[in-house]
Amino acid sequence: MKKTLFAIALASVLCIVYYSTISCQTNKPKNLKVIKDRDMTVEEIKEYMRTFTLSLGVECDYCHDTDNYSNDDKKEKNITRDMIVLTEMLNEKYFPGAKENVTCYTCHRGSIRVKNTPPGL
Ligand code: HEC
Ligand code: HEC
Repeated sequence: MKKTLFAIALASVLCIVYYSTISCQTNKPKNLKVIKDRDMTVEEIKEYMRTFTLSLGVECDYCHDTDNYSNDDKKEKNITRDMIVLTEMLNEKYFPGAKENVTCYTCHRGSIRVKNTPPGL
């Protein structure tokens, strides 16, 4: 009886270890170079990336090989790394504690091309 209980307990522990290792592996981004919060899960990254697609009026494949989000082949992904650094720098250096901070949308307004001419000009 004791041996059976021990076997069940051991199996449960191994099971938990096994599944948490798997979910850790699939849940961690592998190739972050500029996003500072390295504890972000893939789900949190995807939610953050939604602000990019909505700000630029594009889909994920504009920057990504959607079969492998870690891949860096697309130039748009690398340009965006500079854009993330730029946006963070603007907020940290020039608008610390501002109520209305700068986002991708501030400049892009739903399009890849930025708006730099006021309507009417
Ligand atoms: C405008 C460009 C852009 C768009 C659009 C975009 N991403 Fe990203 N994504 C990036 C950049 C840049 C990184 C890398 C950030 C870094 O290096 O810190 C990244 C990283 C990721 C990662 C982490 C990959 C890894 O293993 O490191 C995932 C997952 C991801 N994006 C998912 C998505 C999804 C899902 C969408 C659509 C909802 C999306 N992205 C839209 C630019 C983009
Ligand atoms: C301060 C204004 C500003 C902010 C904030 C900004 N961008 Fe940009 N972005 C620009 C300008 C200007 C260009 C150059 C447009 C051109 O080449 O005509 C550009 C170009 C780009 C390009 C390249 C487009 C192309 O034609 O290849 C991408 C991708 C991009 N931005 C993504 C982003 C993302 C994602 C964010 C938020 C993390 C962001 N940008 C924040 C001003 C900004």
